Amino acid sequence: MSITTTGRAIGRAVDRIEGPQKVTGTARYAYEHETEYPLYLYPVQSEIARGRVARIDARSAEALPGVVIVITHENAPQLADTHDKELAVLQSDEVAFRGQYVGAVVAESFEVARHAARLVSVVYDEESHDVGLRADRVDLYAPDQLNAGFETDTAEGDVDGALSSAAVTLDETYTTPMEHNNPMEPHTTVAVWDEGDLTLYDSTQGVHTVRRTVARIFGLERDRVRVVAPHVGGGFGSKGLPHANTILTTLAAQMIEGRPIKFALTRQQMFSGVGYRTPTIQRIRLGADEEGRLTAISHDVIELSAKIKEFAEQTASATRTMYATENRRTTHRLAALDLPVPSWMRAPGEAPGMYALEVAMDEMAERCDLDPIEFRTRNEPEVDAETGLPYSSRNLIACLREGAERFGWEGRDPTPRARRDGRWLIGTGVAAAMYPVYRMPGTRARVRSLGEGRYAVEIGAVDIGTGTWTALTQIAADALGVGIGAIELRIGDTNLPSASVAGGSSGITVWGSTIFEAARLFRERHGEDPSEGDTVEAGTPDNPETENYSMSAFGAYFAEARVDEDTGEVRVPRMTGVFAVGQVINAQTARSQFIGGMTMGLGMALHEESLVDERFGHVVNHDFAEYHIPTNADVGEIDVAWIDEEDPHVNPMGSKGIGEIGIVGSPAAVANAVYHATGVRVRDLPITPDKLLR
Ligand code: MOS
Repeated sequence: MSITTTGRAIGRAVDRIEGPQKVTGTARYAYEHETEYPLYLYPVQSEIARGRVARIDARSAEALPGVVIVITHENAPQLADTHDKELAVLQSDEVAFRGQYVGAVVAESFEVARHAARLVSVVYDEESHDVGLRADRVDLYAPDQLNAGFETDTAEGDVDGALSSAAVTLDETYTTPMEHNNPMEPHTTVAVWDEGDLTLYDSTQGVHTVRRTVARIFGLERDRVRVVAPHVGGGFGSKGLPHANTILTTLAAQMIEGRPIKFALTRQQMFSGVGYRTPTIQRIRLGADEEGRLTAISHDVIELSAKIKEFAEQTASATRTMYATENRRTTHRLAALDLPVPSWMRAPGEAPGMYALEVAMDEMAERCDLDPIEFRTRNEPEVDAETGLPYSSRNLIACLREGAERFGWEGRDPTPRARRDGRWLIGTGVAAAMYPVYRMPGTRARVRSLGEGRYAVEIGAVDIGTGTWTALTQIAADALGVGIGAIELRIGDTNLPSASVAGGSSGITVWGSTIFEAARLFRERHGEDPSEGDTVEAGTPDNPETENYSMSAFGAYFAEARVDEDTGEVRVPRMTGVFAVGQVINAQTARSQFIGGMTMGLGMALHEESLVDERFGHVVNHDFAEYHIPTNADVGEIDVAWIDEEDPHVNPMGSKGIGEIGIVGSPAAVANAVYHATGVRVRDLPITPDKLLR
């Protein structure tokens, strides 16, 4: 595969193509598509965490003017496929978690639907529930495999032997909390069922994923289902797979044919039923020799899943390859609880796992009496330890060096509590991260000549706010050897060729490779001067280099923390992130992705935490007043850079995914800076003031 990055469009800081639509309010999000005489759905959610619905009395709700129907398991149509218990909405009287949909009201207005939903009286046969994740549970089990197909456990060499003979050792446990995805636009579906044809305007990361799932569950031919999502107001993984809200809306549309049904979740409803990041309990053991070379790495993870459906996060996957050592062991154990199903949230696995590993590396550097950058440099591997393959490119050390320079790391006194400014203790921290180059199957792209040198490029990809509209236009322009003004990109609709989900930071790799292939075939068949209407469609080409190389993005993260000695308040006035991600497609939108990822990492370090009340089984801080994500006042200066990295192996653009790498290393950098400032090692995220004052 030859590298083709010399085009005029790739790499430039092109303004967002859909920018004017967004700032003038004409870009349509799911709820805003014009539909005729829509109805509004409001769900009834279970008030117990486990048991059965014994009785439902919907009479006063039904009597309310404007209510069209109250749907419960007693009158809901039978779904064709109820195999996926998360999506088997209203198919039985069983309650598997608190907040589960046990009914829905459909009415002429949102307000009437909401009011009526509160008038629906539900009597439960409550059973005792179990929602507590603890390391000493006796029912922890090993799943068959982890998310993204990773192995559950790995072992190489003699870890115990190496740990007992190591000159320096570490054995610590790190915990991370449950967290909830909160894109600005909540999960939303508008469903229109008309004479056997179903149209969904859905806030999703993958229109074809939704189509496939909905068609299966409702027993429809795929081509009778159309899913449309031209603009999506953020999706951090929770919109990567359809959840019960989409099924519930579709089910209502099936019962009330001809009238569009609209359902947008409230912010509080975002905290049950659309996935979340599992909490983790991670034990890390490290051994090193006198020179600070790691001799053993062991990473044992405990996390949760739901009783109704398994989701097993790959928390220790990055630990398998990040640093060089012959003796390695990783394990994952799950507790299946009476909670909603956990799912993807920006860098599932890598973000919590590398937080633990990179804090452990900071602690180990101190025990080895080495600067943390020097310690990582001594443990930089030659090849991917798991596969034995060389890296297509691995420039972690270059990122660390460049970051150290930009941040002003040199001359840092490693002693904790060495610097202060009045009451403020000042510290700095560093961490490293990797994120794999994932590939997903099932993408096709079409190129059609529109005449006069213009081209339509069609692919069912989705822009979740990341800049896909612009980046794919740049890629298409270079692939066809024309200016970006000659490209008319069409995305976000299942009427276009199928595309993989915008997840795993894989979008540009997969969609871009496919557009390059379609463009290459187009030129081969129709030349430089095609006739209007000439069309070529192509699938994603195989990349044989994936057999020969290990492919990952890398990053280095630096943070300064100021901690009020009296109150424990933490401020982070500045962060630096330097990334090795191959060719950057759009310098402007890429920078935004890195800043966004690092900001989310700052929130993971200091703020985000979903608190489950074990007595009732629900998240109590289910709104933005109580669940804190960083706001402008929390975020200081974020300096972002990337190194020139040429990777001729990854894909025709030479690019690696950038959506997730930004979050992966930043929580550890902040945590390490807080330790350096205070001398207090908090191993339990988020680092709230109480933990520093203990
Ligand atoms: Mo991302 S969590 O893979 O959508």
